[in-house]
Amino acid sequence: MRRVNLTTIIVICFVIVLYITLDSTLLSFNSINSRVIFGNKAAKTAWNNYTAWHDCLANNISSYKGDPNGLWSNLWKGIKKCENIDQMKSLAINDFANSDETKRHILPKLDLPSVIVTLGIGHDTSAEEKLIKKLPQGSEFFGADPMHEINERLYTILPGKYFAFAVGAEAGLGEANVLANNSYTKKTVVNVDIIYFLKNIVKRTFIDDIWIDAEGAEYGIFDYFSVGGKFDANDISFCQFNIEIHKPDSLQKKLFHDFIFGLLKDKRYAIYRPVQGYHMRLFMLNFNNDECIFKYIL
Ligand SMILES: *[C@@H]1O[C@H](CO)[C@@H](O)[C@H](O)[C@H]1NC(C)=O
Ligand SMILES: *[C@@H]1O[C@H](CO)[C@@H](O)[C@H](O)[C@H]1NC(C)=O
Ligand SMILES: *[C@@H]1O[C@H](CO)[C@@H](O)[C@H](O)[C@H]1NC(C)=O
Repeated sequence: MRRVNLTTIIVICFVIVLYITLDSTLLSFNSINSRVIFGNKAAKTAWNNYTAWHDCLANNISSYKGDPNGLWSNLWKGIKKCENIDQMKSLAINDFANSDETKRHILPKLDLPSVIVTLGIGHDTSAEEKLIKKLPQGSEFFGADPMHEINERLYTILPGKYFAFAVGAEAGLGEANVLANNSYTKKTVVNVDIIYFLKNIVKRTFIDDIWIDAEGAEYGIFDYFSVGGKFDANDISFCQFNIEIHKPDSLQKKLFHDFIFGLLKDKRYAIYRPVQGYHMRLFMLNFNNDECIFKYIL
């Protein structure tokens, strides 16, 4: 009896040592295979780190619940504080500047091509030009802007696919502020709804990063990002997104308030790199999608 027990113990010890060795070796390959074998463990680290970020921001902004004005003015402070906690420091958030702003992007850790979507090109693709040089071969760019002058040429030579319409919640004709001849003017533009645009025109549902600079149309799609929202209903995922929130009136501040507290409730995206002016720019990263976690976080 005693001998059998000893043998069993030795075998168990051997298996444990083998497991630990294999585990760390395979994890360091950082490959799709490690996900199949050790996905749970790696995803748990990312999740714990996300939880630390979430608790940090939720604590910091809890007093602005029900106070859209207070949230609009103070959110950036909490984001700046929480993006600097130890659990977030390993994220390599890169800057891709154009002439009047900076887009953020985490480069893929796996050699898989990316899908990048630009809503609102604004006569300037210098950020896209910098990014395309860093992305794996075969990465694709899709850009929509209702003003084809300049935008069509710039976006096409990236190379990217250009679409001459605005993208938002509703299809139809609408008034939009557009950049023409170096100033913003109101024009009637054709709108295509974002679900139709992504599913039927771009024909991609796994989007690595979408850059939303839609001069107010973003308010209509805030709730599409929520868990169980229209993007989920259509199996559309975003790993990252950059969004400019256009200078809000008081109703829009309320929509923004609900968007931010909704994101926290959903526990899907973390928010970084706030730029606060009349408009606000934010960068979001998806911690609740396996493909995104393995491509950008682990
Ligand atoms: C939120 O973070 C800011 C910036 O660090 C800090 O000044 C403020 O006191 C924090 N608020 C709360 C309620 O923790
Ligand atoms: C999680 O946070 C720790 C620091 O607490 C860091 O060393 C590690 O790289 C982070 N892991 C991921 C997957 O972000
Ligand atoms: C820009 O200016 C040119 C020349 O003044 C004019 O022909 C063109 O229609 C203008 N474009 C728009 C979109 O207003």
